Amino acid sequence: MMARTLEVIVEQITHETAAIKSFKLVSADRSPLPRFSGGSHITTYLQTETGLIERHYSLTSDPDNTGYYRIAVRRNEDSNGGSIYWHDHVKEGDKISISYPKNYFPLSFQAKRHLFFAAGIGITPFLSMAKELKKKKAPFEIHYAAPSKELCAFYRHLSTFFSEETHFYFSKENKKMSTKLMENQPIGTHVYFCGPEAMIKGFADAAKVIGYSEKSIHFELFTPPKSGPMQPFRVKLNKSNKVIEVPEGKSLLDTLLQLHIDAPYSCKIGGCGSCQLHVLKGEIDHRDFFLTEMEKKESNVILTCVSRAKSGSLVLDL
Ligand code: FES
Repeated sequence: MMARTLEVIVEQITHETAAIKSFKLVSADRSPLPRFSGGSHITTYLQTETGLIERHYSLTSDPDNTGYYRIAVRRNEDSNGGSIYWHDHVKEGDKISISYPKNYFPLSFQAKRHLFFAAGIGITPFLSMAKELKKKKAPFEIHYAAPSKELCAFYRHLSTFFSEETHFYFSKENKKMSTKLMENQPIGTHVYFCGPEAMIKGFADAAKVIGYSEKSIHFELFTPPKSGPMQPFRVKLNKSNKVIEVPEGKSLLDTLLQLHIDAPYSCKIGGCGSCQLHVLKGEIDHRDFFLTEMEKKESNVILTCVSRAKSGSLVLDL
């Protein structure tokens, strides 16, 4: 289901590194684009010969600049086609549909200081956050790991506009971005992570050990967290009195949608909470990174895009 969309033209394509291209998008009718907040992303819809490709990309441009949006796409040979299509087929002048900006990775208004930790393409959400914070004169630091200067997307941009705030760690120069950077920070510091799942997990675990509260730890994944085998289970829909089987390897959300059962969703990776449904009976195997540990223990809600039944079945209030 495609939500309300904006039509944009790809005005400029820039090679940020050998594997990363950025795309400048302007409104097709040249009207101003909606403002957004730091950390926001858009969903892009590419109509191809084999069907619609729907992908989410962080906005890297200035949140207050309504003249254009910019996204960055890393070519991923292992993906199922989205990034390859962006790299190999999208040209300057192409018209595409995008969603309105959404933000599941916002800056915390409670933070007195923000520490960003990025690896590779994980730098993208921090670019708009940094622009927002710089204008507000709010204190922040960017810690950014990449293989080398040549393979570091937005190196020149960060060195020019955020030279005081940005610290680079190039593995080819044996520089490591350490979790120790989070130690001895002033009270009110919030930490944010974006990059591969293993990096995020390592930093989030270390932050908890150092003493950061759950509310001061923020992260964004680009793919669903890996959390074990996807066993089949049965779901009873209480209101409609239907019983459905969720097959092995398939999510509850995709099963509902395939059966044309109206179910809400957005990110599809367990990070936004949009697909939340009430569970009346059964034990939930929570696999999302949206609910807090307390909410997972105390509330009877399931995020259908990633979570499953712990035992064989669930009864949903649907
Ligand atoms: S759709 Fe975002 S958490 Fe499920």
